[in-house]
Order: sequence, then C-alpha cells, then structure tokens
Amino acid sequence: MSENKIDNNCLSFCQPSEVDLQKRDFLVKATAATGAVGVAAVAVPFVGSMLPSERAKAAGAPVEVDISKLKPGEKMTAEWRGQPVWIVRRTPEMLDKLVKHDDQLSDPNLEVPQQPEYCKNKDRSIKPEFGVMLGTCTHLGCSPNDNFAMTADWDGGFVCPCHGSKFDLAGRVFKGSPAPKNLLVPPHQYLTDTTLLIGDDKKAEA
Ligand code: FES
Repeated sequence: MSENKIDNNCLSFCQPSEVDLQKRDFLVKATAATGAVGVAAVAVPFVGSMLPSERAKAAGAPVEVDISKLKPGEKMTAEWRGQPVWIVRRTPEMLDKLVKHDDQLSDPNLEVPQQPEYCKNKDRSIKPEFGVMLGTCTHLGCSPNDNFAMTADWDGGFVCPCHGSKFDLAGRVFKGSPAPKNLLVPPHQYLTDTTLLIGDDKKAEA
C-alpha cells in the first residue's frame, strides 16, 4: 500500500504514534495561547473606556472667571462645558427696566426651573448687578445677539438671529418668541467680589 492511501483497517483500531501525540499537544497549546491574547486585546480597550480621560474631566470642571474688568453696561463671555456663559454687568437703569415688562414675558415668575433656587428672584441672580446665563437660545440653540440700546419699546436684551426670539437682560423670554423657555442660569457662586466660579454652587446653596 502506498503512503498516500488510507488504510481502512487502521481507521478505528490504530493507536496514534508518538509523533501524532506531540503534534496534538502543540496544537492544543497554540490554540489556548491565541485565545488568551484575544481576550487580553479585547479587555484592555474596554477597561480603558470606563475611565474618564483627563480631558473629559477638565471639560466638565467648574471654571473660574475674573470679572474685575467688566464695566457697567457690558457683557463678557466665558466657556463652560463647551457652552458660552454670559456675564452681564447691569446698570441701575437696566435693573429698573427689568421689573417694568413682566406682562410681556412668557414666564416672568420663573415657574419653569431654568435657574437654581438661589436665582429665583426678580433679577435671576445672586448679585443683582451681575446676570449670569447660558448664551444659547432655548428654541434651537443659536446664540442670540446683544441689543442693549433702550428705546421707547425696548428695555434692552438679546435677540436671536435665527428665528427672532427675544430675551430681556435677565434672560427671560418675551411672549410670541419661538423659544419656549428662559435662558438657562448655570450653577455658580462668587469666590471673591471679582471672581466667579461657574459650574459649582456648593457655597451658594449653603
Ligand atoms: S434658535 Fe433662537 S429663535 Fe430659533
């Protein structure tokens, strides 16, 4: 019988040779090792994805803002969690106007929780002089423009360039605007008279 032909008599009765046994051991070990590498390769990125990166932690961290150079009647913009936060230094005249147009507003009494409890007051602020609010329209997220010049029909505020929503200098939305809610007031507190911390309000809440 040639070596390439199957010996039918041997299919069920022949014992594996020493060489066959060595080959089988080698294949079993090689397969087990490949499986272990595969598990390790999958496990590393999974564990890695559960740990917040330094960049992600920094992106959600509170932001300190120096407001010492902000003049009365001006606005500055900080960035917190990738969003613009406006700080408006309101003059006494601006603050006077805030209480004169409640009847034109959608939510003058702040019933929709768009501000922390400590800002649920007529100025929507901790210190009346400084208004702090997210510069993102509550309709579809455009950034409203400043329109601080007062006229007989306008007490100063913001107008959204996308669909015309109007907000006053406390970020309260006027009736008839497509925006359904007032601008959001983020959590914040004052670390000093001229340093604002946005994104953390433990002291303000206490
Ligand atoms: S996004 Fe501001 S009015 Fe539509």
